[in-house]
Amino acid sequence: MVNQMFLHSSPQSSQSGRPWGYLLSLLFNASCLVIIGKLLSKGSNSDSFQGLGWSRKAAEEAEAAAQYTCSGHGYVFVDTFQDGTLNCECNWCYMGPNCSQIDPDCVSDADSGDPGILEPFWIANAEVGATVVPAWYRMSYQINDGRQSVVSPELEKQIRAIHALVGNAVTQGRYIVLGTGSTQLINAAVNSLSPTHASNPAQVVAATPFYNGYRVSTELFDSGDNLWRGDARAFREGTKSLNSTTFIEFVTSPNNPDTLLDEAVLKDENVKTVYDHAYYWPHFTAISRPADEDIMLFTLSKLTGHAGSRLGWAIIKDYDVYQKIYQYVKINTGGVSHDTQLRATTLLKAVIGGYRHPKRMEAIDRESKQMIFHYAYSVMRWRWERLERIFNMSDRFSLQNVGPLYCNFFRKVTGPSPAYAWVKCEREEEDCAAVLEKAGIIGRRAEEFGADKRYVRLSLLRRDDAFAVLEHRLQALVCYNNHCEDIFSSNQPNSWPQF
Ligand SMILES: Cc1ncc(COP(=O)(O)O)c(C=O)c1O
Repeated sequence: MVNQMFLHSSPQSSQSGRPWGYLLSLLFNASCLVIIGKLLSKGSNSDSFQGLGWSRKAAEEAEAAAQYTCSGHGYVFVDTFQDGTLNCECNWCYMGPNCSQIDPDCVSDADSGDPGILEPFWIANAEVGATVVPAWYRMSYQINDGRQSVVSPELEKQIRAIHALVGNAVTQGRYIVLGTGSTQLINAAVNSLSPTHASNPAQVVAATPFYNGYRVSTELFDSGDNLWRGDARAFREGTKSLNSTTFIEFVTSPNNPDTLLDEAVLKDENVKTVYDHAYYWPHFTAISRPADEDIMLFTLSKLTGHAGSRLGWAIIKDYDVYQKIYQYVKINTGGVSHDTQLRATTLLKAVIGGYRHPKRMEAIDRESKQMIFHYAYSVMRWRWERLERIFNMSDRFSLQNVGPLYCNFFRKVTGPSPAYAWVKCEREEEDCAAVLEKAGIIGRRAEEFGADKRYVRLSLLRRDDAFAVLEHRLQALVCYNNHCEDIFSSNQPNSWPQF
């Protein structure tokens, strides 16, 4: 939801169109002018910008935008804070010029895997996470360091360092390719592992319930060299007899949507396995060992939460496969934006820096302000416990079964903290997504994962505001017939409508 306010607003530009709305908007805009003026003048006179040269104006604008909080329910970003215009981008369900009103028609949108949970971490770590990009920064297509590569050596170093810190993947003696999100690397892998112009195209499969990105991308590119064939289990008995055919199996571990630690279903010579470890980080699952598969995909989106920066990486054992995937990315997009690579380098350094002087690793709490995995784990764990309490009251709906595991990173047994709830409607006939929709909850339909309609996926990754609405709607749904007490009465807004 974007709320645009012009500092010289007209009645047409007011949100509500009602006289009080207009008045409110004028008042708000007037106070914004004062705030902006104060911030900018504070910036230019204060010590904090002393010594700055060409970056001073940009730094002042960035700080001024960051200080406007939109009632705690939205953001003013630096690109929408210019030329007398102030835009609050409101969180889900909030509206009004400064995001202070709850939308009375609001439903819970738990569809997207947008990782808003990490925003508070970065606000608390604003200084170490900030990147300044000079106008002439790496304008060339390539990095002119003698290798004519499109990969920043410093970023590659930080990627290896973060895996070493967490202990979730072997990178020593492995090749790394960057992609515009791991989404680009999914098709890069399919393309590179498929035989060219063979009589049998490669069969691309994943065990249900599977992340839909594999199907969508294989079907969209519609290459003659490969075909999406759906559930890997359907081929379990047959791959050996079909050894003139290449199989490409995607294994998502932890899995999206059900968050289980899946293993490959197909294991024959003609099967090439791509492990997607997007969620193999301590905030989503216990780290049991450094993964060491032939091709592994990771993404910044679920590690630091910067999904919009579009950075993924593949860790690859075989040189020829590495070369093919690298060439695919170079031809497809000319590599990953240098601006993104710079930002990712800073973010990874900040994450690693947060563990330079670790307190006791096993003390997991939200107060561990510089320790991203501690912070994010505690938020995810807290959300999962809340969900469990709601679902425990129901015999109509259930959650996937995930239990505690020993985590090498936290050096202790940790309770589950999954990225998604894979909800099952226990009554035989139910279309689970439709049942939840009626209750004002939008989840991702099971069909998208090749699964039975009795399931639906709910994202637990979104901003606090979105999670609060989800919790409220779920509680209303589960308690509708049970007349159960309001288990979380402390922090529920009271102005959302009943369904
Ligand atoms: C399992 C899995 N792989 C890949 C992706 C794509 O990630 P990216 O943002 O890096 O393109 C997602 C996104 O939700 C995902 O869940």
